[in-house]
Amino acid sequence: MRLDKFVCKSTEYTKAEALRLIHAGHVIVNGDVIVDEARQVHENNTITLNGESLKARGFRYLLMHKRLGTICSNVDEGYPSLFNTLEIDKVSELHIAGRLDVDTTGLVLITDDGRWTFDIIRPMTNCQKVYRVGLSKDLSDDLIEPFKNGLQLHGESQLARPAELQILSPREARLTVTEGKFHQIKRMFVAVGYRVVSLHREQIGEIALDVPLGEWRHLTRDEVKSFATVI
Ligand code: URA
Repeated sequence: MRLDKFVCKSTEYTKAEALRLIHAGHVIVNGDVIVDEARQVHENNTITLNGESLKARGFRYLLMHKRLGTICSNVDEGYPSLFNTLEIDKVSELHIAGRLDVDTTGLVLITDDGRWTFDIIRPMTNCQKVYRVGLSKDLSDDLIEPFKNGLQLHGESQLARPAELQILSPREARLTVTEGKFHQIKRMFVAVGYRVVSLHREQIGEIALDVPLGEWRHLTRDEVKSFATVI
């Protein structure tokens, strides 16, 4: 991870304070003063701040049931951020592994581990995301095939990856996808002439939503590890 992140994760300093300390030459990595905050460092490196050895805290992994009308950004931008309701330390270090729109509810995974997030969101790992979708008009079985074959989304040069559409009732479906482009699900339905009226994420990989609306919990070790094997 970056040196500035390491300093934040091993002390109570804010990012601004960590930068000031690094630039002032107070941080030593394997015997050398490092003033480049972007320098990549590793757990095995010997890193000291004013002579005190630093040890990074472990990464954090959480699951939350997102409410309608909240946003996945760390700051309020016209709507309240879902991070406002997380009463834990250093919330600003956390991010969402696969954001949901303001009008989407359901499962979000929250972490400060960028590599873990990458494994969840990059299509090559085939991590499945399962959505329950409400539509503005009745669905037909003829739709299953085009979703399976890969839809042409507006503005994209490549077809969407194959997706599994399961029709639950005339205007409700479950859709399983392995990618997460901007407004992915809404655009997939637009491509077949439908408008999404409600959207809820039920599952990511093996992790299913199991907390009430607005609540959160820590992931178990097995849940955290489950993404490494999805490839
Ligand atoms: N696809 C969308 O269109 N919106 C979301 O919030 C998530 C996936």
